[in-house]
Amino acid sequence: KGCKLVGCGSAVPGLQISNDDLATIVDTSDEWISVRTGIRNRRVLSGKESLTGLAVEAAKKALQMAKVDPDEVDLVLMCTSTPEDLFGSAPQIPKALGCKNNPLAFDITAACSGFVLGLVSAACYIRGGGFNNVLVIGADALSRYVDWTDRGTCILFGDAAGAVVVQACDSEEDGLFSFDLHSDGEGQRHLKAIIKQNEADHALGTNGSLLGFSPRNSSYSCIQMNGKEVFRFAVRVVPQSIASALEKAGLTGSSIDWLLLHQANRRIIDAVATRLEVPSERVISNLANYGNTSAASIPLALDEAVRSGKVQSGHTIAAAGFGAGLTWGSAIVRW
Ligand code: ACO
Repeated sequence: KGCKLVGCGSAVPGLQISNDDLATIVDTSDEWISVRTGIRNRRVLSGKESLTGLAVEAAKKALQMAKVDPDEVDLVLMCTSTPEDLFGSAPQIPKALGCKNNPLAFDITAACSGFVLGLVSAACYIRGGGFNNVLVIGADALSRYVDWTDRGTCILFGDAAGAVVVQACDSEEDGLFSFDLHSDGEGQRHLKAIIKQNEADHALGTNGSLLGFSPRNSSYSCIQMNGKEVFRFAVRVVPQSIASALEKAGLTGSSIDWLLLHQANRRIIDAVATRLEVPSERVISNLANYGNTSAASIPLALDEAVRSGKVQSGHTIAAAGFGAGLTWGSAIVRW
């Protein structure tokens, strides 16, 4: 059995924050940010907007393009590291879409690699049998975990959601040629948002101590990042990973139509493209408008490229995600 990509969609919050806006709250400048990162604007959730709402909007658009009815979806993979429910946001998607068949829905946590991992997982579920239409959503709201007084990180991130529909097909039509996925827990120290154990309130504390333990209320720290190390990591592992996936597919950097990397930093994207000998006109990037949107960045950029007519049916795309964990991975797919 094969699987193919049959639809995509995306959604971003209404509030746009420019580099000049950021320069009013931290000591930075449009020039510093755009030269070092390529980012000029980002969108941030505000007011009544929710990440789940963005994910639902992206999913609706993807289903519409795919001409798939919500009741035909049998699996929803919500790739996010910032769920609105610690127990998983995914089941809220089929609920909001009105799926009457109660499809399996669960979250995948792999930061900026989440979408590539979700795509490969969707293919594995389909190839294993029993699943025909899988909705893969990449959605993150890192603005909720950013320290807005830290100029080293707050300039980088934005919120967004993107989705694709992966559908079962005959093996001759198979659209996932190869993949390559990895993790390295050693590197966690360079990029993390870890749990904080706060003192519990008085009533909880008193009741807990009667039983011989100290209950804690937990929350997460803001994103802590060593930018230079993350940069080095990305430039080292991403070309290796894509090269390995390309080799498995019998392709080379010069034989693909598009390179679509996680949108973290313009200099990372350029360095990877150079190493793989992919000319700049075949590199997809919308980083300037949205910043680093974590698991959403690849499907968001894909959706824009498809709707603008850049990416066309039959094109080969080398996609790669990388980020916290550390995790990284590539997938060679046909649109
Ligand atoms: N504005 C002005 N100055 C700044 C800013 C800012 N926003 N941020 C840092 N600086 C200063 C620093 O304080 C430092 O000053 P000093 O020399 O007086 O000490 C100087 O600029 C250099 O700082 P560095 O951190 O060394 O700057 P660097 O060139 O490494 O650029 C950056 C920082 C842009 C974060 C870069 O390291 C980077 O992009 N790394 C990759 C990060 C990334 O992509 N992370 C996300 C991937 S994983 C995921 O997606 C979750």
